Order: sequence, then structure tokens, then C-alpha cells
Amino acid sequence: SAPETVSPTGRPTGADQSTNAQGDAYLTTAQGARLYDTDHSLKAGERGPVLLQDHHLREKITHFDHERIPERVVHARGAAAHGVFRSYGTAAKVTKAAFLTGEAETPVFVRFSTVLGSRGSSDTVRDTRGFATKFYTGEGTFDLVGNNIPVFFIQDAVKFPDIIHAGKPHPDREIPQAQSAHDTFWDFVTLHTEATHHTLWNMSDRAIPRSFRMMEGFGVHTFRLVNAEGATTLVKFHWKPKLGVHSLVWEEAQLINGIDPDFHRRDLADAIEAGAYPQWELGIQTFPDNAEQTFEGIDLLDPTKVVPEELAPVQPVGLLTLNANPSNFFAETEQVAFHPGHLVPGIDITDDPLLAGRLFSYLDTQISRLGGPNFAQLPVNRTHAPVNDMHRDGMHQTAVHTGAAPYRPNSLDGGCPFLAGADTGAYIETPVEVPTGRKQREAPASFSDHFSQPRLFWRSMSPVEREHIIAAYTFELGKCYERAVKERGLQVLANIDPELCEQVATGLGLPAPEATVPLTAVEPSPALSQLGHTWPLD
Ligand code: HEM
Repeated sequence: SAPETVSPTGRPTGADQSTNAQGDAYLTTAQGARLYDTDHSLKAGERGPVLLQDHHLREKITHFDHERIPERVVHARGAAAHGVFRSYGTAAKVTKAAFLTGEAETPVFVRFSTVLGSRGSSDTVRDTRGFATKFYTGEGTFDLVGNNIPVFFIQDAVKFPDIIHAGKPHPDREIPQAQSAHDTFWDFVTLHTEATHHTLWNMSDRAIPRSFRMMEGFGVHTFRLVNAEGATTLVKFHWKPKLGVHSLVWEEAQLINGIDPDFHRRDLADAIEAGAYPQWELGIQTFPDNAEQTFEGIDLLDPTKVVPEELAPVQPVGLLTLNANPSNFFAETEQVAFHPGHLVPGIDITDDPLLAGRLFSYLDTQISRLGGPNFAQLPVNRTHAPVNDMHRDGMHQTAVHTGAAPYRPNSLDGGCPFLAGADTGAYIETPVEVPTGRKQREAPASFSDHFSQPRLFWRSMSPVEREHIIAAYTFELGKCYERAVKERGLQVLANIDPELCEQVATGLGLPAPEATVPLTAVEPSPALSQLGHTWPLD
């Protein structure tokens, strides 16, 4: 195909360089010299030694030797698709982000993933699923890097290496926890009881989805939207699948893991190929941007808490349709680099301490996973907005920059000014007040409530969903070798609900402990239920 762009040396640049590989009549070396044989090494005589001068042999094998890149440190196994996001225009009241106002259509790339398994692990394991979306907007790329569970295990990113070390295969035998001992995972989540809410969702049917097409997605953190007048609103992002939410039962998941470990990625690709394009509505819960960053007593900076939809309904703002499979898994699904800090004007962050660590971590890990700082030039990562950065050189640089003065302002390259300010469409951080206080590591007091929301979740379950949760805890805790870990697991359950604890304790053949926290019900008060959405979009 005709190259899209040509470098100053006349060579095709970017993605087009790679499209010629398999279609052309002649096989060539990487330098373009035509080859007449790729099946036999160059030898001294028919039965003689292979010659070191065989450049093709060495080039072919050397390249092959370096084909693999490190898998992601988490979310290594994934499947992805291209699509389009169509805004309903309903969010214009709360954000100036152009892709959410009017009826804009924005190309997207979405990657679904499991968290803990390696690249070759099975699809239908009990785990959280990643739901990461790259919106290629005209104002820059916006990444919504979410999960299919609305809360997270920890409240502070400094613990992220710890929870992942605890959840990954045991370091001695490298046996994944789903098949063997579970002690480290359960050790962590029972010693760090902020993990209780996420763990309870993991023990529910939500952690074994029927299909990626039938999962919800959540931005988890509270974000801050900014409208054209500069007014701010706190929001939580939600994806609602048009097909509804469906799960496998445990026995189905086990059978499918054996019969078809690629079940979810096959399901996604087959559906798209057949024209049954999966769709999700993007919605937001909206909260006033108050000084406390709370809503009806719920700390919006605590990523282990949800805001019940009875208190703040999810208001639809647009429709996502996935309509094309990647044509190259490596180039797209494997090399895509999401980052919660990829924001566009109109969308800002809050001071959630988990989000703060994420803002550092993704770029850092991608520099090592994708071999240097230039991965934004990879086709799947290229923004659709014009780029004019001052980044230069580095490993795997493919751009041929021109000009003498990579800094602004300068007086050499035609006297480039530095254009800044809101009227230029620049991304401007919202000038919110920073709370003052002494430098400290302690978390706010509200972060120490670890059980009231898990209790709310448990009480919202139907009888059959409760049965599944009891069976899941009994199976998973039953795999632990250490009695102390099982006992601490039961203590956590006692603090959620005595019935849940007793049933699991019976299954484990251990006594059920008493709760150590008050088992208060968290029911939305009638006044709160009537409150409805606080910031109606329509
Ligand atoms: C990858 C979600 C917390 C570090 C991912 C991916 C998702 C995700 C969906 C996969 C992206 C892809 O498909 O390529 C989340 C959510 C979190 C969370 C929803 C909490 C609300 C964290 C924290 C850290 C972290 C606290 C570190 C401090 C990473 C890293 C990767 C990753 C290093 C691999 C990125 C790559 O190699 O491209 N996360 N994550 N995550 N996450 Fe998170």
C-alpha cells in the first residue's frame, strides 16, 4: 500500500514500513536485499560447516531471538478491540471535554484483561478484569483505565507492590494461586482489611464473567470534571453493557478453563467478526465538589468505597461500540500503553492517594516494557491530535526531528513563541485549594471503615448469589495451608455478617468467631433515596 508519510530520506515512515512484510512478491533482508532461499543456511559444501558470513541466517535468528518483550507486570493477559464512542452531548453541563459534548464520534481502542495471570493463563479464572479505554480525541488522548469491579484492594499506591506480590504465584514454586496454595493472597487481605470490599466482590459471581461483552466497567477513583465556565463537579465513571451483566457459575468456569482457555478472547473476536458489536453506555455519577470531598458521608477519595446508585444514579453520557478486531495482536493489544494521567481539558484528577501512585507507575513501567521512552510513537499509541513536543532522541526513536532549537520560546527556529493559556485550548490543572496540615503518612479516619460497605454488598445479594459467595470463600480459604490465615479469614467474614461467617466456618470445619466491630446496617435513608441525582444532566 502507498505509504502515508515519507521521511526526509525518502523512506516510508511509521506503520507503513511494517505493512510490506508479507504481501510482496520478493522476500528481502531487513535492508531490502532480495533473497533467493530462506530454508537453507550457507555451508562450505553440501555436508560442510555453516558459515558465519551467512548474514541472512544471523539476521533472521537474531531478530527471532529478540521477538519477545516483557509481559505487563499486572494485567498481562488481555484481548482488545477497536471501536467508536458517540457522545450524547448530555455531559456538556459538567465538562468542556469536546468528546463528551455535542454528538462527537471518537475512535477508541479497548483492552480487557485479567490481573494476576501470565500472558498464557486461562480466561475464566476468578479474578478482577481490567477494562481500559483509549479515546483518540482531537484534544489529545484520554485513557479511562478501569476495572470491572468498582473498588480496589488498597487505599494507597505504596501498597500496590505488596498486594501484587501476595497475589502472584508463590515465589518458591511459581504455582499460580488459583490451582494451589492461596496463603499469601489471603494472608495479605486478612492483615490489610481495607481489601475486604474488593475481595468480597472477587468471591462473588462478578469475578467470573460470562463474557467481556457482559461486564460493567468502573473508573474506580473519583475524577473532577470542569465545564466551560470553570465550574467543577466530582464524578465516578461507569460502563454499562447493553447485553446486561452475566456471569459463569464456578463449575462452568472450571470446565471452560480446561476445554477452551481462550474462551473470553474468542468470544469477543467472534462476536465482532459476526457483526454482533458489543456496546456499553458510559455514565457518570455526579457529586458536588465540596471541600471535604465526601458525598452523604462517603469519602470520595477512598477507592475502597462505592456511592450506591440509589444515592447518585448513573447518568448516561455516550455509547461505546466495538466494531473491529485488531489485525496484529502484538502491535496493538500487546503494545498499547494506557495511563490514567492521559487526560484532556475538562477532565481532571482528585487527591485519591491510590490514583497518585498510578499516575507515576504506568509511564515508568512502560519505559521498561516497551523499551525506552518513545512508545508514544507506536501506531496504537499515537494520538490523533497534532504533536509538537520537545522530546528528542532516545531508544527506538522513529521520528526525524528538524529544527535547531528544541525549546520554547526560542529565537532561532523562526522565533517560536510559547503559547499558553485557556484560550489556546491548553490543559490547565484546576486551581483547587490544597488542604493544609502537617506532613504525615497517616490516612484520614474515614479510611479505617473497612466493613460497612462489604456488609451493604452482602445484604444486597440474592439467596443464590449468597450461596455462590459462601462456596467461593469455603473453596479459596480451604486451599490455605496455614490455619492462622483461615482463622483470620473467618474473622473478616464475622465482621461482615455472622451468617456468612458461620456457613464458611462450617465448610472449613472451624469455629465461627464473634464480630469485633459493630454490625451496623448501612441502609440509604428515605431522605437520601429521594435525593436522587444531585446534578441532573438533563
Ligand atoms: C495495568 C487498572 C491500580 C499499576 C493496568 C491495567 C488496568 C489497570 C486496566 C491494564 C492496562 C492494559 O490493558 O494495558 C487499575 C485500576 C486500579 C489500578 C482500576 C485501581 C483503581 C494500580 C496501582 C498501580 C498500578 C495502584 C501502581 C501503583 C499498574 C501497572 C500496569 C497496570 C504497572 C501495567 C501497565 C503496562 O505494563 O502497560 N491497571 N490499576 N495499577 N497497572 Fe493498574
